Amino acid sequence: MRILPLGLAVALVSGLTAILIYILGLSSNFYDYIRLSDADLDALIDLKRDFRKCVNTNGLGLTAFGDDTDYCKITIQYPNNTESKWIDPKSGEHEGLSFEFNLCEAVVTWEQVRNSTTVLTKEFIDALPNGWEDYAWRRINKGIHLNNCKNKTLCMEKLSLVLPPTPPFVPHQFDRCAVIGNSGDLLQTTFGEEIDEYDAVIRENGAPIQNYTKYAGSKSTFRLLNRGSAKALDKVAELDETGKEVLVVKTTIHDIMSKMIREVPIQNPVYLMAGASFGSAAKGTGLKALEFALSICDSVNMYGFTVDPGYKEWTRYFSESRKGHTPLHGRAYYQLMECLGLIKIHSPMRRDLNRVVQWLPTRSTLDAARIASEKILRWVGRGKKDPLSACSITKKFDDSRKLKVSGAIRKVAANHQKYVKGSTLYPMVHSVGHGMLCMVPQVQKN
Ligand SMILES: *[C@@H]1O[C@H](CO)[C@@H](O)[C@H](O)[C@H]1NC(C)=O
Ligand SMILES: *[C@@H]1O[C@H](CO)[C@@H](O)[C@H](O)[C@H]1NC(C)=O
Ligand SMILES: *[C@@H]1O[C@H](CO)[C@@H](O)[C@H](O)[C@H]1NC(C)=O
Ligand SMILES: *[C@@H]1O[C@H](CO)[C@@H](O)[C@H](O)[C@H]1NC(C)=O
Repeated sequence: MRILPLGLAVALVSGLTAILIYILGLSSNFYDYIRLSDADLDALIDLKRDFRKCVNTNGLGLTAFGDDTDYCKITIQYPNNTESKWIDPKSGEHEGLSFEFNLCEAVVTWEQVRNSTTVLTKEFIDALPNGWEDYAWRRINKGIHLNNCKNKTLCMEKLSLVLPPTPPFVPHQFDRCAVIGNSGDLLQTTFGEEIDEYDAVIRENGAPIQNYTKYAGSKSTFRLLNRGSAKALDKVAELDETGKEVLVVKTTIHDIMSKMIREVPIQNPVYLMAGASFGSAAKGTGLKALEFALSICDSVNMYGFTVDPGYKEWTRYFSESRKGHTPLHGRAYYQLMECLGLIKIHSPMRRDLNRVVQWLPTRSTLDAARIASEKILRWVGRGKKDPLSACSITKKFDDSRKLKVSGAIRKVAANHQKYVKGSTLYPMVHSVGHGMLCMVPQVQKN
């Protein structure tokens, strides 16, 4: 009789502990509990100092500030005379002019993106504990009706059209990449030729190329799709005349889309994205496109994202403006990314390709700040040198696994493969401590 209540108590206590660990793990206000060295603190102070100078110098009127009581918190503020046009449909209020970001979180998350794979693969779902029942159905529209993929065969059938066995792309596969947004500011410049010079060009949703090549270029390597565009896959596939553009869906696979792939048929490769989660700071197709680009390119250049202060039209280059969402917030976040050295922004007011982004934190400052941030945020493998220490799930693969990467492997990419000991690292959305899922070779090559 005593065993049952005891068992219950143990379950309760461990449940509460798990919740507590979860809360503590997510909060960055518990510096006291974390052993940060002086070097760590210096790195964070250096990062914040350089970052503020960078935003204040390159942000075209944006200012960044943050006090010394919080190593991570940073506020990016628009000039007071900025006309805020976007109105929150829920609160009815205009978008504010100042935004708070967590610099530590940004440094760690994006650095991890650069070393991980963002295409959903079969090996990833297979390796997730209960991957088919807990995860797979979430990537199928109305997957909830599939009874959590209890019938795995049925789920595999649904996903098979978009599920490669292993990643088709690897980190650093491309050198210079351009991500093209759909903003009307593209028509104020003629970036077309410049855009076509990139090694890979990433577009979004239904952005047309024909009739706009002078402004938006003609090259198109990838296209990031939201749910609406994925349902009109036949129309999207027509936008690129080569039929080779790779379509990457950021949400779920829909029956309408699968039918088109089979019956139209769509020749282009179609994949689902297996991306990280950036919380509320960063949503939208634009950011997903940058995430995808950063996971396969050495340098990422951004065009067509309405980033300049004073810009208030929020139009699209090819059609009437759609409602959109929090444009000032998004723009501040892009400036944050530029001042962390992740991207370079090109816009009517920053049209010089050779423009130097001043006061960028150096590589060593970024590396040191990342390690300190990992500690603050209690990331899995924090502060360790081994690239596989961030793996919270490790699955060994044997020699029969062949990476089928489309295109040649550059030296930088090959070196990176060596650095990760031949492994493939996948981010896991919403995993506590941001541990990764790693596919590592049975016999590690050094
Ligand atoms: C802009 O407004 C903020 C908040 O009201 C204020 O703190 C700041 O000093 C103002 N800046 C300028 C340049 O007027
Ligand atoms: C699972 O789905 C497949 C494919 O639709 C079907 O042939 C099979 O009968 C289903 N199995 C069960 C146990 O329902
Ligand atoms: C390009 O312009 C031509 C002529 O105006 C038009 O017929 C065609 O539909 C346009 N293409 C796109 C993709 O907008
Ligand atoms: C990512 O990989 C590079 C080597 O290509 C390495 O220098 C860097 O520390 C890695 N970053 C993380 C977060 O593991």
